[in-house]
Amino acid sequence: MLLSSGQIDTVPPGAVFLGELSLEGTLRHTKGILAMVSVARDQGYTSVFVPTPDADEASLVEDIKVYPVTSLRHLIDHLRCENEIEPLDDDVWQTMDDTAGHYEMDLASVRGQEHAKRALEVAAAGFHNLIFNGPPGSGKTLLARCLPSILPRMAQQEALEVTKIYSVNGVLPPNNPLVLQRPFRSPHYTISNAGLVGGGRTLRPGEITMSHRGVLFLDELPESNHTALESLRQPLEDKVVTISRVSGSVTYPASFMLVAAMNPCSCGYFPHPTKECTCSPATVTRYQKRISGPLLDRVDVFVEVPPVEYEKLIEEGEAEDSSRPRKRVEDAREVQRERFKESEFFCNSEMGPTEVWKFCQLDDGAKGLLQTATQRLNLSARAFRRILKVSRTIADLEGAEGINIAHLAEALQYRPRTAVS
Ligand SMILES: Nc1ncnc2c1ncn2[C@@H]1O[C@H](COP(=O)(O)OP(=O)(O)O)[C@@H](O)[C@H]1O
Ligand SMILES: [Mg+2]
Repeated sequence: MLLSSGQIDTVPPGAVFLGELSLEGTLRHTKGILAMVSVARDQGYTSVFVPTPDADEASLVEDIKVYPVTSLRHLIDHLRCENEIEPLDDDVWQTMDDTAGHYEMDLASVRGQEHAKRALEVAAAGFHNLIFNGPPGSGKTLLARCLPSILPRMAQQEALEVTKIYSVNGVLPPNNPLVLQRPFRSPHYTISNAGLVGGGRTLRPGEITMSHRGVLFLDELPESNHTALESLRQPLEDKVVTISRVSGSVTYPASFMLVAAMNPCSCGYFPHPTKECTCSPATVTRYQKRISGPLLDRVDVFVEVPPVEYEKLIEEGEAEDSSRPRKRVEDAREVQRERFKESEFFCNSEMGPTEVWKFCQLDDGAKGLLQTATQRLNLSARAFRRILKVSRTIADLEGAEGINIAHLAEALQYRPRTAVS
């Protein structure tokens, strides 16, 4: 319009203009700038004009010049070479390192439960799906909430992916162009299907997309609606979710780590060392059946969380904090980065059959154990591969190249099973 009304004579070649123009002529914050600028760069544009509030976000995209614009007047002056706008030159990535590192919950607040803490560390290191199963008050919710404190930092590529999702949804925190902390989402179990996997009348990404590269925590798992749980099966496998509509279909990223907590039965005390379970065997079975076999088959780490022992509760001082486990997880993640540098994977849990074959080499002792376990435990092909991936992560945590019998034995302990079967 400016060109055809003669208010300006030319526009620079290779430039894109993005942003919402208000009636007074100012440029307002606009959703999805990061995604739009990435596309512009990929299409060969060399400069982009964006609303000033979104300039930092735009500058995350490399190899494109970003001009912050406050008003239409401002832009016209620039295009007439009267009062030129300086392109942004600060490198947001440089300030990235020192902003991460503050956590609400720390493992120091969890007493005892060493076995569960170890499982949490293994799951965090390889990004494996995990379920805590145990009586009420044993600390399942507490443990899950400590997970962010030991998760590895996001790689640049991961941070960009998460930032794009937040930006498109308009939930990027102000003055924070880049999301650095892995998402940790904990929707209530009454959430709708569309809320969980995406969809709805205005087509929005669901919680599984909002937890991309982070954690989806489902507390009280058996209380969740059955259809919603079943709809997690496909994204858990494919790491993306496709939503079909009359007008076509959309695919959103959904590479999340599922963490869930459940009681073993409706009263919660099956089987408990000191409290009596008031459920009949049939009720216990029915309760556990709410989590279907195919869903359980997608869980890599299944952990029994027993009641906390009295001695542990009254111990003086705090438990070990999250700093050492976090360091071990980071180191294991470094090994994985090196392993997958030629591929698009980030972590062990993402490996497909070919990679499992290539990277999960067992020594002779481990091979023997795996053969016996596969026959005795009647493992499905999927379960078999999951066990190998978890063993790989356990070996990585130790800095070991090959998988030995101890690594495999620990992975087998985390195999999902229900108390009745
Ligand atoms: N292992 C533990 N160490 C310290 N406090 C604990 C532990 N387990 C439970 N608690 C306390 O009990 C409360 C309930 O724990 P929670 O994690 O909600 O149990 P669950 O989810 O297993 O029912 C927590 O807020 C915490 O204060
Ligand atoms: Mg709980």
